[in-house]
Amino acid sequence: MRQELERLKTEAIQEIQTAGDSGSLNEIRVKILGKKGTLTSILRGMGRLAPEERPIIGELANRVRTELEAALEERGKTIALQEQNRRLAQEELDILLPGRKPKLGHCHPLQLVLEEIEAIFLGMGFSIAEGPEIETDYYNFEALNLPKDHPARDMQDSLYITPEILLRTHTSPVQVRTMEKMYPNPIRIIAPGRVYRRDSLDASHSPMFHQIEGLAVDEGITFGDLKGVLTVFVKKLFGEDRQVRFRPSFFPFTEPSAEVDVSCSCAGKGCRVCKGSGWLEILGSGSVNPAVLKMSNYDPERVSGFAFGLGVERIAMLKYGINDIRLFYENDLRFLAQF
Ligand code: DAH
Repeated sequence: MRQELERLKTEAIQEIQTAGDSGSLNEIRVKILGKKGTLTSILRGMGRLAPEERPIIGELANRVRTELEAALEERGKTIALQEQNRRLAQEELDILLPGRKPKLGHCHPLQLVLEEIEAIFLGMGFSIAEGPEIETDYYNFEALNLPKDHPARDMQDSLYITPEILLRTHTSPVQVRTMEKMYPNPIRIIAPGRVYRRDSLDASHSPMFHQIEGLAVDEGITFGDLKGVLTVFVKKLFGEDRQVRFRPSFFPFTEPSAEVDVSCSCAGKGCRVCKGSGWLEILGSGSVNPAVLKMSNYDPERVSGFAFGLGVERIAMLKYGINDIRLFYENDLRFLAQF
């Protein structure tokens, strides 16, 4: 039995040391030390030994078991380490693998035009002002020299909420709000935003659209300043080769008033967009009416100003050759993806 045990030990240790993975190591453990394992079956023969030999063999068997357990444990550690290294090698991060590009959206054409116009005026020293879309009759009309019974109120079909509150029909009320806030300082602002009119949606009308208002108030401002600023603006936006034309017009809040046209890209040859006239109307403007300055506390004897208002949709349609205003609001990706 002593020999059997010694042989078991030698063979088992060899087997343990050549085990390649934790699975086969475990099989070896069961085969040798398990309930039906080799060691147990050897020890079953103890009964046949002489009584004085039993403790000696018993002790030897225990030693063999301890040594084999130690060998199993040692090999187990080595294998575990190897397996971990192998796993880590497989899981290695490839930092050179090109990433997957997320799909970026892009700016809406109205936003593009708005940002372009803002950049031009910021470059000329204007800053950006804002006002509410729900406005009082006073700011939207009265303080702009449009008293309650003024016929020019008919120029803009309004959406009233109460007799004194309405959705602003233009961005011009921001002129008044800015003058109240800035008095008595000079002013140079543009005010972009949504405006609302009682119009049905068709190819050229929308009950909601966007405007940009402009206002400059200071000592010594002339109509010439207005012409200079708007000419620079139009040429920057549409191109240096375009001509600008100031046409006499009427607005209650400006005196004198002018509508501004830009020469059509057909260069006067006559096309559908300019209806053969060679000119495209793009904005309304004028010298601030002294009555408007006075209502907001500015002294028309001391300061003067100019103002203008333009429609963002109209400019975007002319700039990009879009013939239906509804395209801006339908969010059809086939349209939007072109910008
Ligand atoms: N508020 C006018 C409109 O909506 C546009 C306009 C014209 C604004 C002349 C102005 C201006 O500031 O001076 O039709």
